[in-house]
Amino acid sequence: MKILFYTPQSDAAAWLTDLRRALPDATVREWQPGDRGPADFAIVWRPPHDMLAGRSDLRAVFNLGAGVDAILALEREQPGTLPSGVPLVRLEDTGMAAQMVEYIVHAVLRYMRRFDEYAQLQAERRWHVLDPHPRASFTVGVLGLGVLGASVAQAVASFGLPVRGYSRSARRIEGIGTYAGPAQFDAFLDGLKVLVNLLPHTPDTQDVLNAQTLAKLAHGAYLINVARGAHLVERDLLDALHNGQIAAATLDVFRDEPLPVDHPFWREPRITITPHSSALTLRAESVAQIAQKIIALTRGEPVTGIVDVARGY
Ligand code: NAP
Ligand code: GLV
Repeated sequence: MKILFYTPQSDAAAWLTDLRRALPDATVREWQPGDRGPADFAIVWRPPHDMLAGRSDLRAVFNLGAGVDAILALEREQPGTLPSGVPLVRLEDTGMAAQMVEYIVHAVLRYMRRFDEYAQLQAERRWHVLDPHPRASFTVGVLGLGVLGASVAQAVASFGLPVRGYSRSARRIEGIGTYAGPAQFDAFLDGLKVLVNLLPHTPDTQDVLNAQTLAKLAHGAYLINVARGAHLVERDLLDALHNGQIAAATLDVFRDEPLPVDHPFWREPRITITPHSSALTLRAESVAQIAQKIIALTRGEPVTGIVDVARGY
């Protein structure tokens, strides 16, 4: 079995070592420009057009991330980047759900227990007890109830906070109020104290975090965006912070990454910034999952995580 590998990042050698260890019967090679040799599977992050174009004999392409927006954008810019008819398989969890839970629970509790405001009081050397936020009305809404969103919603609910979740198709999750589709979007948003975004970036979800959406939350709500920068209309967030509709935001993802040094978000103390690090691709877990799926496919068994390209996730 022959496997082609490509990542533009600097850790290709470590991935090759781990893949060869997990699949000792396979020949795993790093793709180099001009390589048109045979391959059964490809494992990629942002592959150049020439790597996969025309390789319709591949049995699957594995994307080294949960989100497939980058590879689908490459396909739109240069059709044929993904060989037609070959399944695209994304990472499912591979340790990301636990990381996302830690990140979101931390951010939600930081706002609920007003640690951000106590940090400001400490900077001013002021000893002052703030009124607690009433737990019963500190409602958290999670956009996206997939692998990551469902885990996050359940983890937040375990602290006794009211939690709502929003998805495309109807979902039932114990302890979570679930809403599906555009007809239920406003009811989902109505009066939320915290809005967490874990949607995939697709043409349907682009710019979903806009002035109209933010206006439907409770006054003084919090925004946590860990999905993609293209979900957020940046000017609308700055306006909502300035008029008090949004009290503070935690952002892990941005339209331009790395966030440019002169971007106004850096100067806004009510925005907490992390560098797209809320849930990293973990090599050991990812290699184990991909290897297990490759073995299943070679045995003719089905695998999960196949992307619906028309749907965009
Ligand atoms: P997933 O399992 O595919 O779940 C996606 C969820 O979004 C599903 O519940 C889906 O609804 C819902 N959805 C999709 N389009 C929708 C629409 N138009 N309206 C309403 N709901 C919609 O994805 P995941 O593994 O949880 O990952 C979610 C996203 O997180 C990824 O796409 C990626 O962008 C982001 N991410 C970020 C990081 C980071 O470090 N910042 C790390 C990993 C992932 P259905 O349930 O009805 O299908
Ligand atoms: C990271 O952002 C991912 O989509 O895996």
